[in-house]
Amino acid sequence: MVCLNEEMIAIFEKNKKEFRVFPMATSSKDGIPNVAPMASVWLEDNETIWVCDNYMAKTLQNLNENPVMSMYFWNPDTKRCFQIKGDAEIKTNGTDYDVMYRRVKEIKPSHPAKSLIVMKITEVFECTPGKVAGEKII
Ligand SMILES: Cc1cc2nc3c(=O)[nH]c(=O)nc-3n(C[C@H](O)[C@H](O)[C@H](O)COP(=O)(O)O)c2cc1C
Repeated sequence: MVCLNEEMIAIFEKNKKEFRVFPMATSSKDGIPNVAPMASVWLEDNETIWVCDNYMAKTLQNLNENPVMSMYFWNPDTKRCFQIKGDAEIKTNGTDYDVMYRRVKEIKPSHPAKSLIVMKITEVFECTPGKVAGEKII
């Protein structure tokens, strides 16, 4: 696993506060890509992201057959942007799921909070436009 640094964490939180939504990319086992907006997203620690599955369809199917995912987050002021990739685990019970369930129900009781997607970050790439674009950072 890899750890986000302070700048990456700050941009993740700024993205969450200002845009409220993250693009979540997955792929079927046959390589059909899929991207969907997700707002119930939390950076649990510097190498772990949680996403609540409320209404996932293709996303969940993809994770079941190919448990990897990608996201990006950016700072519109500085244009700094990071793309992350990682392994995904689907949890429908246990302590982490219970914590997530309570958190979501407090915010929006009508959300079903069907499962918790735990993303362990494995790679971070530059998404910032310019010379460094696409470079692997960690
Ligand atoms: C702004 C926004 C935020 C959303 N946040 C979530 C979320 O956190 N969890 C979720 O399961 N669905 C969320 N959705 C709904 C999914 O994006 C939607 O169900 C989508 O169809 C899922 O993609 P899929 O069908 O390819 O799996 C959100 C939708 C929007 C527009």
